[in-house]
Amino acid sequence: ALVSMRQLLDHAAEFSYGLPAFNVNNLEQMRAIMEAADKVDAPVIVQASAGARKYAGAPFLRHLILAAVEEFPHIPVVMHQDHGTSPDVCQRSIQLGFSSVMMDGSLKSDGKTPADYDYNVDVTRTVVNFAHACGVSVEGEIGCLGSLETGMAGEEDGVGAEGVLDHSQLLTDPEEAAQFVKDTGVDALAIAIGTSHGAYKFSKKPTGDVLRIDRIKEIHARIPNTHLVMHGSSSVPQEWLQIINEFGGELGETYGVPVEEIVEGIKHGVRKVNIDTDLRLASTGAIRRFLAQNPKEFDPRKYLAASTVAMRDIVIARYEAFGAAGMA
Ligand code: G3H
Ligand code: 13P
Ligand code: ZN
Repeated sequence: ALVSMRQLLDHAAEFSYGLPAFNVNNLEQMRAIMEAADKVDAPVIVQASAGARKYAGAPFLRHLILAAVEEFPHIPVVMHQDHGTSPDVCQRSIQLGFSSVMMDGSLKSDGKTPADYDYNVDVTRTVVNFAHACGVSVEGEIGCLGSLETGMAGEEDGVGAEGVLDHSQLLTDPEEAAQFVKDTGVDALAIAIGTSHGAYKFSKKPTGDVLRIDRIKEIHARIPNTHLVMHGSSSVPQEWLQIINEFGGELGETYGVPVEEIVEGIKHGVRKVNIDTDLRLASTGAIRRFLAQNPKEFDPRKYLAASTVAMRDIVIARYEAFGAAGMA
């Protein structure tokens, strides 16, 4: 059944676990997520970005998620809009039937320019007002996602700030977070602690100075009843990087957010963990390997099935690590 995010995150808080939220763009990703959730009996949060909508088209995306709800009626599913850039975008999603939206007012509506506090409160408050009137949950963001190693947002052409940011923008301030929750009434709050979107998060396995799990603890201590959200939380599995490069890819050395650090965050109020890149890596690695090892195959269902299995295994591993298995 389609449920609101608030329902799932309240349950996650009550039973002290975290829910991975996976980005979806196509059938194979959707199927991988649902098969994994079905196997381990976990609730599902699937999220669609503006890029996903552009790729698949809003009606296809909507019906893809509704099809999942229909095929797996026993699994609670949240249909969430990732990184809404304006109240209009969020309103359109609600009209399309999303049960949860993110208003990312940490950036202006271009999705690149860091916004000031008052702007963020203004757009987020607006969305909370109309979303709650429809029973739809709202995620806000305070602080800009980006690397504490380089000050850069990470992804070049995806969602994220442009240019170099300073430490105060890249790390959520606990006092400001508390004020923001009070001023907006959001159901969940995305925070900045040094993670960034995409595959290039850290140049080596991250240490406590560039991945600030300690900051999560401070924020959670200040607002214990707010569900925290970690973006840019792919772990960038080294084995998949290796497979991609072994079969013709050219990815540079890079490190993600270690699963054990996310688990530490979950102990301190993190309830939603956004993951996109890991499924992209697994999918690409599996397809590259399949095609290299089966040069005579040309039925897309064959290599897409291999990619679905690879993604499904990552989803299962995250459900288990975050304590969400058995919680559906
Ligand atoms: O937040 C970023 C997600 O990974 C979505 O990426 O905008 O390329 O769909 P995208
Ligand atoms: P990754 O790029 O680390 O998978 O993050 C995805 C994300 O935060 C989507 O909002
Ligand atoms: Zn994100």
